[in-house]
Amino acid sequence: MLFTLTYVSFETRPISPSGLEVLIRQATRDNARDGITGVLLYTDGYFVQRLEGSREAAMALFGRIRLDDRHEVLMITDVKPIAARTFDGWGMALLDARAFDGGIPEQQEVRSLLASLPETVRVHPEAVDEVAAVLRAVLVA
Ligand SMILES: Cc1cc2nc3c(=O)[nH]c(=O)nc-3n(C[C@H](O)[C@H](O)[C@H](O)COP(=O)(O)O)c2cc1C
Repeated sequence: MLFTLTYVSFETRPISPSGLEVLIRQATRDNARDGITGVLLYTDGYFVQRLEGSREAAMALFGRIRLDDRHEVLMITDVKPIAARTFDGWGMALLDARAFDGGIPEQQEVRSLLASLPETVRVHPEAVDEVAAVLRAVLVA
């Protein structure tokens, strides 16, 4: 049975783009081992992460993540069985909003969209799947 868990957290100290790259490299390696896929959004100090995998693997991973002192988990917004993965093929996709810093309007639009998502999933947990679809669309654009 496939399972998904999404949470919102906030950094305990500023994480640099390279610090985030290091985190994602380790996460991608370990997630491949554990059959986990998903996405990690970083925007203005907030993380929004969706994990997908077996119930056991997703819960075990979240057990490690919530103890990580790089952030504090604010809220689990969504835990449920799913029929299929949204992030099939991504060990852990990374969306660092800082990458969208070009002056062109399209980049600014994506950046402000990403900036709104931590609040959206906290106020509207039922919108998590739509948020995931938005993140996936940004990733493949
Ligand atoms: C925001 C955030 C997201 C993370 N995502 C993952 C992940 O998807 N997979 C993973 O293995 N570790 C992830 N980690 C790292 C884990 O918290 C932990 O450091 C790592 O799994 C190693 O744990 P261990 O030292 O107990 O083996 C994440 C950490 C943070 C702060």
